[in-house]
Amino acid sequence: MHLGDRVALVTGGASGIGRATAAALAQEGARIVAADVNDAGAQGTIRALDQDAIAVVLDVSDEKHWIAAIAETIEKFGRLDILVNCAGIGVSGSIEDLDVEDWNRLLAVNLTGTFLGCKHAIPAMREAGNGGSIINISSIAGLVGGEDIVAYSASKGGVTMLTKSIALHCAQHAPGIRCNSIHPTYVDSEMLDPIAEMFSSRAEMLAGMAELVPAGRVATPQDIADVIVFLASDGSRMMTGSQVVVDGGQLAGLPSRHSG
Ligand SMILES: NC(=O)c1ccc[n+]([C@@H]2O[C@H](COP(=O)([O-])OP(=O)(O)OC[C@H]3O[C@@H](n4cnc5c(N)ncnc54)[C@H](O)[C@@H]3O)[C@@H](O)[C@H]2O)c1
Repeated sequence: MHLGDRVALVTGGASGIGRATAAALAQEGARIVAADVNDAGAQGTIRALDQDAIAVVLDVSDEKHWIAAIAETIEKFGRLDILVNCAGIGVSGSIEDLDVEDWNRLLAVNLTGTFLGCKHAIPAMREAGNGGSIINISSIAGLVGGEDIVAYSASKGGVTMLTKSIALHCAQHAPGIRCNSIHPTYVDSEMLDPIAEMFSSRAEMLAGMAELVPAGRVATPQDIADVIVFLASDGSRMMTGSQVVVDGGQLAGLPSRHSG
């Protein structure tokens, strides 16, 4: 898993999975660019790291921000090897009650943000000449539908297919650069805070979610970060265009009722 010398840009690096990923990549020796709209949070992430690291303000839905963030990365470290597109937002709503404004806002961050990150990282990785690994954080909701999270599911489904198209492009036009997606089940991060408010306690919400996961619990940010480290490392060198499900068995099959 050793990532010494490599440089990783992690979006959503201020919180949850992104923060855990920055720490896990740094533990393997990577130098870190923690990128987020939440500057204070990203600064907090890098302060906790032992490796050389910077925080950059990045709104992933803004192409100019991406151009500046990649330029800052190259200026500081001279290369970019790993991109983790982790920034994301959630909005509830079914097809009949979701506003188009919320649809557009969510797609701009979750899907366009991932598109822009890949678009601008690939030339920088190619230029540096060391190959690269792009890891896009989708969701199990990017593989199956969600009645009350229509925009979220559509955005994550888009990330699933975007990832495959990018993997094919890189195989032809940027050899050595890989692109894979990760599909977590529920992860106990700040993203669940608004949902927790609808329950009498966070523990009650997590227990209800855990009932849907055969492994018996929701995931932690560390559970996802560990898989991201694997996809970033040479241990996954033959993997590109893959959808890596990290769901404690949730999508493995239907609940069984064939025995007493
Ligand atoms: N938490 C879950 O249950 C879960 C499950 C499956 C997939 N995911 C995905 O994992 C990723 C990380 O989620 P998390 O659970 O760590 O959530 P989180 O809310 O803890 O972190 C998301 C981060 O993204 C940042 N962000 C939001 N909009 C941004 C923008 N426009 N530009 C840059 N940064 C922005 C936030 O400031 C925050 O730091 C998301 O893509 C999410 O959809 C989460």
